[in-house]
Amino acid sequence: MKILAIDTSCDDTSVAIVEDGSILSNIVSSQIEFHKEWGGVVPIIAKRNHEERIDVVIAKALQVAQIHMDQIDVFAVTYGPGLAIALEIGIRKIKELATKYNKPIVAVNHMIGHIYANFAKNSKGKPFNPKLFSKAVFPAISLLISGGHTEIIYMKNHLEFEKIGQTLDDSIGEAFDKVSNMMGLGYPGGPIIEMLAKRGSQDTYKFPIPMINSKDLNFSYSGLKTAVLREIQSMGTVKYPETKEEHAELPNRITISKKPIYQLTKKQMEDISASFQYAATQQLIMKLRKAINDFPIQNILLGGGVVNNVYVRGEIRRELRDIGVKVFYPNNKKLLSDNAAMIGIAGYYFAMREMFTSIHALDRNPALSL
Ligand code: KG4
Ligand code: ZN
Repeated sequence: MKILAIDTSCDDTSVAIVEDGSILSNIVSSQIEFHKEWGGVVPIIAKRNHEERIDVVIAKALQVAQIHMDQIDVFAVTYGPGLAIALEIGIRKIKELATKYNKPIVAVNHMIGHIYANFAKNSKGKPFNPKLFSKAVFPAISLLISGGHTEIIYMKNHLEFEKIGQTLDDSIGEAFDKVSNMMGLGYPGGPIIEMLAKRGSQDTYKFPIPMINSKDLNFSYSGLKTAVLREIQSMGTVKYPETKEEHAELPNRITISKKPIYQLTKKQMEDISASFQYAATQQLIMKLRKAINDFPIQNILLGGGVVNNVYVRGEIRRELRDIGVKVFYPNNKKLLSDNAAMIGIAGYYFAMREMFTSIHALDRNPALSL
């Protein structure tokens, strides 16, 4: 079964060709250059870029996969969660193609895509996570950590999702982005904080680990964010950076924001990053331990952009190894961030069960939940 999948949920225009769970192509056209000067994604810029690029990205995905559109059996598209006007571009295109080629549509929840990235196979049919195919995986727990979500999902089986924990305020990815912003650094903040944290000490600042005493599996990142802000405010005076040269000592991938920032030394930035990253990760580990206690499982599937962070995923894996729980993540750089292949993989599992969506019922759902 050959699937053409589209994801335009946020700031990446992505199209993939997936055959029986194997990725034949996965093209991601990033718009980050257009958004970073605003310190976040600007919906109208995202929409315009998706509109301009979608046909070229589709053509490229077919070319790399070496197939023609008339060989496609199923069309898959992200219908939420995400930015309404961005989702619309992918949905409109999928409707157009499904009508023209008279083929069924699967509508995929972006977060299910992040989970199913774990089940991807390469173009030769070899799984990135072979162990997920060789034994009983379920019941399992999925931890979703992205720019919009921090959630724990209990999965009794394939395509059975029960949300058992979620953030009450900010997502963890948002917290990384905001801490970067507070220090006057760029967007997305996650990779910047991770890089600075490598040289910092996590013991310098004792930031609170929110929700550790709560009995549920929910998360909160606003208290941690506020504690970091207070620390930063206590450090120095406000100034208005005008030139990149002022921050010449920082790695050049860091962009300088236009808003007033607090005067921090590079060492302070590194220590804040490490201490924040430690507290943010500890919260994940504590909640996962509790979830494993409440829901006996042997496998955890990680998903979402924050899984790019080697420290975060490494600590989770290390901490849970002692209690015999295996931690999986999409073992391929492109599958960690937003991409259409994950939508094609999830779409394949839905299509196998003939869970199609009619063209008339298909509509964007920006606040779609699991
Ligand atoms: O899943 P994703 O690509 O998009 C959404 O669906 O939201 O996640 C984006 C989020 C951003 O908040 C970004 O800062 C974060 O993932 N992120 C990271 C890292 N790389 C991306 N967070 C921490 N460390 C990283 N290395
Ligand atoms: Zn995502």
